[in-house]
Amino acid sequence: QTCALPIFTNIDSLINEMRLIKDEHEIALMKVAGEISAYGHVQAMKTVAPEMNEGRLEAEVNYAFAQYGCVPSYNSIVAGGDNANILHYVENDQPLNDGDLVLIDAGAEYQHYAGDITRTFPVNGKFSDVQKQVYNVVLKANIEAINSLKVGEHGKIHHETALKILTQGLIDLGILTGDVDKLIEEKAYTPFYMHGTGHWLGLDVHDAGRYNGDDGKPRKLQKGMVITVEPGLYFAKDNELVPEKYRGIGIRIEDDVVITDGEPLVLTGDVPKTVEEIEALMKID
Ligand code: GLY
Ligand code: MN
Ligand code: MN
Repeated sequence: QTCALPIFTNIDSLINEMRLIKDEHEIALMKVAGEISAYGHVQAMKTVAPEMNEGRLEAEVNYAFAQYGCVPSYNSIVAGGDNANILHYVENDQPLNDGDLVLIDAGAEYQHYAGDITRTFPVNGKFSDVQKQVYNVVLKANIEAINSLKVGEHGKIHHETALKILTQGLIDLGILTGDVDKLIEEKAYTPFYMHGTGHWLGLDVHDAGRYNGDDGKPRKLQKGMVITVEPGLYFAKDNELVPEKYRGIGIRIEDDVVITDGEPLVLTGDVPKTVEEIEALMKID
């Protein structure tokens, strides 16, 4: 009598590669996830008001997702003022103050595919001059990092692009002094920007797939990869490295991007991100 032993082989790496490159059908689903996620953020911008609780605003986002039969693809972050400087803030239970910004990192899951958007906007509908200065640095980093994502580029190109703009911005704001390249080499940005600029996105919010090739270097971008772009600047209330006027400001702007043969395809463009667009949307009741 023979007893055939089953042979187990770990096929994770094969499946992960299949998950990494999305086909047209998957991209169509992710486009919808991006649109519903964007809708949640638009509704939050239209609803927010001073004194509202972060939790009430989170409920607004979840309600918008639920209108399309969707649940959040991860624990939403709704962080007013200095709470935005806590990267994984999920308490979402504090009142939102007039004059502060609120950072919302929330995405809808549609047909198992995740959306992942961050927007930062003024609780009272109008950015102060100081908030605008910082915001526009992060916005430039977001836009240029997105535009850097092309087939054949290495997979850290968006991070490198963002670091250049954020570091130059920190110089322009009077927070760092010196040569941009040298400051980047020294990682002088770390007290104000302490995370990467993106991750694979798909069935999971931090999706499967290797970031580096066998040579240990970032792999080249291929058509059908979907990646987030999420630069930020974080000036905690107690960060004495920054002038007082910037303390308590935390900003991140995150979009979901498909690598194509041509220009990168932004899945989350339905929610505004320039100062002017946000202020215009928030004026309408
Ligand atoms: N919301 C999780 C992330 O942005 O990575
Ligand atoms: Mn993300
Ligand atoms: Mn996010």
